[in-house]
Amino acid sequence: MKPLYASKKDVLKDYSQFVSKGKVDFFKKFRMDMVMGKRDGIYFYDMETGRRFINCHCNGGVFNLGHRNPEILAALQEGFQEFDIGNHHLISAARAKLGARLAELMPGSISKTVFGVGGGEAVDLALKLAMGHTGRPNIISAKGGYHGHTGLALAAGDAQFRDPFGIHLSNFRQFPFNDIRTLENKVDDQTAAVILEPIPATLGIVVPDDSFLQAVRKICRERGALLIIDEVQTGLGRTGKLWAVEHWNVEPDILVIGKGLSGGLYPITATCFKPELERIFLEDPFIHISTFGGSEAGCLPALKVLEISSQPDFLKHVLDLGDYFEEGFRKISDRVIRPKFTVRQKGLMIGLKFDTPLKAMALSKLLYDNGLFAVFSGNDPSVVQFLPPLITTFQEAGDILKILEKSIKELNSLKTKMLMQALKLFARDLGRN
Ligand SMILES: Cc1ncc(COP(=O)(O)O)c(C=O)c1O
Repeated sequence: MKPLYASKKDVLKDYSQFVSKGKVDFFKKFRMDMVMGKRDGIYFYDMETGRRFINCHCNGGVFNLGHRNPEILAALQEGFQEFDIGNHHLISAARAKLGARLAELMPGSISKTVFGVGGGEAVDLALKLAMGHTGRPNIISAKGGYHGHTGLALAAGDAQFRDPFGIHLSNFRQFPFNDIRTLENKVDDQTAAVILEPIPATLGIVVPDDSFLQAVRKICRERGALLIIDEVQTGLGRTGKLWAVEHWNVEPDILVIGKGLSGGLYPITATCFKPELERIFLEDPFIHISTFGGSEAGCLPALKVLEISSQPDFLKHVLDLGDYFEEGFRKISDRVIRPKFTVRQKGLMIGLKFDTPLKAMALSKLLYDNGLFAVFSGNDPSVVQFLPPLITTFQEAGDILKILEKSIKELNSLKTKMLMQALKLFARDLGRN
């Protein structure tokens, strides 16, 4: 392919002028103005310098199977031999196949799917469906959780993302994640649904107490509210099970997936639900529309993603690699006495928690300088989100741990007040999803 630009400088100029001046200024200020060029497996490279980065951000799971995974690329190319987007009103063989495969793999009796393009859109539909099905207005979500920036998903998120736009919906309430007592007092006969990520990523990869999700399930069932589980980040093998809820034996009414389902190549998301919730669509099958949702060409790579991610050997690899990292973190914290950090982990859904936000922010920057991309959590910047691709080999995992140890040592020797102060400004964009 002919390069789009002769130099990075020109990209930065146009990006600043035509796309986002704020981002260009931000990344320049922190000397992080790389522009993604070549990408392959767990790596991506700066377009000009060729500097290599290991991707432990993975766009929150988009690159679970690595960049430009050859099997998924082949499936997409095959899809384009025959298909295009298709027509969202008409019956589609590709969507039928993908829906059927999802039904086989979903927990419990979930067997229906509506496809979307983005995770926020898929969450919007889940919330809309819960309200329509129950005839109740209220939605309860976790403080510091994150479900997207679209309408209802935005309303279920934190005020900081809504306030600048003046958007406030009074039927959306929140409770502290893991606090079952508070939730118990909030769910009533006006509650349509409780929506939760099993392990909220933006809140700092908080692994729930063992009994929490089961208790939420019970409260919802008893009070006639639905349980919506957002597996946009945790799904598709990230935690070592295909769906994170399997760790706690929880059967949601609606399960939302996105990010990784795209294989990093073609956007596609899914709102999957129990058959009894279909009633509203039976009354009017055209009541919800997404023009690009479930693009026919995109269904093929998604099928390949499901095929790879559901294989027992693949899931075992995720768990084994998770153990390897756990052991590696332990050795690092034995060798590097300071700064102390604790590990939050389920499979390869990992957060490194420090006692102050500045340490986690500084570590993100040092990791970047050492060739590894990982960001801190937007709603708890004292946690570095650590999400290696699920196809990482043990050798690559060893390299990742070496970079981590080097960066933590550098963090310990960071005396420069100026840098620490500058890093205060770092808090905003990088921790976002
Ligand atoms: C848990 C969760 N839900 C929903 C979303 C929204 O997905 P999208 O950005 O595709 O709209 C995200 C995005 O980061 C997410 O992390």
